[in-house]
Amino acid sequence: MYSRIVGTGRYLPEKILTNAELETMVETTSEWILSRTGIERRHIAADHESTSTMATEAARKAMEAAGVGPDEIDFVIVGTTTPDRIFPNVGCLVANALGLGEAPAMSVEAACSGFIYALSIADKYIRCGEAKCALVIGAETLSRIVDWEDRQTCVLFGDGAGAVILKASDEEGVISTHLNANGAYKDLLYSTGGVSCPRDSDELGEARIKMRGNEVFKVAVTKLGEIVQQTLAANNLEKSDIDWLIPHQANNRIITATAKKLGMPMDRVILTVQDHGNTSAASVPLALDVAVRSGKLKHGDLLLLEAFGGGFTWGSALIRY
Ligand code: COA
Repeated sequence: MYSRIVGTGRYLPEKILTNAELETMVETTSEWILSRTGIERRHIAADHESTSTMATEAARKAMEAAGVGPDEIDFVIVGTTTPDRIFPNVGCLVANALGLGEAPAMSVEAACSGFIYALSIADKYIRCGEAKCALVIGAETLSRIVDWEDRQTCVLFGDGAGAVILKASDEEGVISTHLNANGAYKDLLYSTGGVSCPRDSDELGEARIKMRGNEVFKVAVTKLGEIVQQTLAANNLEKSDIDWLIPHQANNRIITATAKKLGMPMDRVILTVQDHGNTSAASVPLALDVAVRSGKLKHGDLLLLEAFGGGFTWGSALIRY
């Protein structure tokens, strides 16, 4: 028994924030942002939008693409690190908005690896027969936790959502998933403003992203290289067997470094970071949907999805499309 991706969808808010506009907000240049990150623009949620509303729109499109109705979905999981509320979880809010009935619904917080973590969990529920049709989402409203006065981080992030429908199938689909985490790196990339952090902590107050970018960069390149090798080895595959790399869209230079380790030409890498910046858990399903709807992916293609994020968490998924 496999789980197979049978539909994808994405949602990006209407408002676009360009690099030129950021020049008027912090001391930066469009050229600096583009050359260091590859990012040209990012989307910012409107006041009336939230992680669950964007996730719902992406899910609607994935359901439509899969031809799946609300009654068929029996498992809902959302990777997010910017939930609307502490609870109910975003999965419950999405399920209610879509009229999904009483299927189990949850969210998983693994920062930028949230979608890969969610996909891995949903795949296992389907493989063991507990679920037949899962809605798996990555969605974030990072603009609400960005410090808009910190030029080192505010140029990087954006909002959005991506979704997939996973169905039980005899045909090969998700072949393997690989997850890792190491909390020893917790101080390199984190958010302040915790709900239960100690009352005498200097992390109290509003939630704001804090990052030591240069150090994050180095660990990300190393760990992503390792997980790609781990994924190939676990499946007795050669680098050349992979048809498409669908990476977390954080930084063009990190993506290029991973592609190089795989020996993959950049025209086999799905690159969307220029259009929406780092959308954390939303970035892999956003890129996947772009790849699907552009007609690039062919039935039977072998896809390698990977992500790296705060925690640190990192992971990969090998998928027969
Ligand atoms: N505009 C202009 N200059 C900036 C800037 C900005 N937006 N942000 C930082 N700088 C400056 C720094 O202050 C520093 O100046 P200094 O040399 O006078 O001290 C200089 O640019 C170089 O900073 P550094 O942090 O070494 O740059 P970098 O090449 O590492 O690029 C990042 C910075 C953040 C783009 C890069 O480290 C990165 O992408 N890291 C990974 C971040 C990430 O992906 N996080 C999420 C993981 S899921």
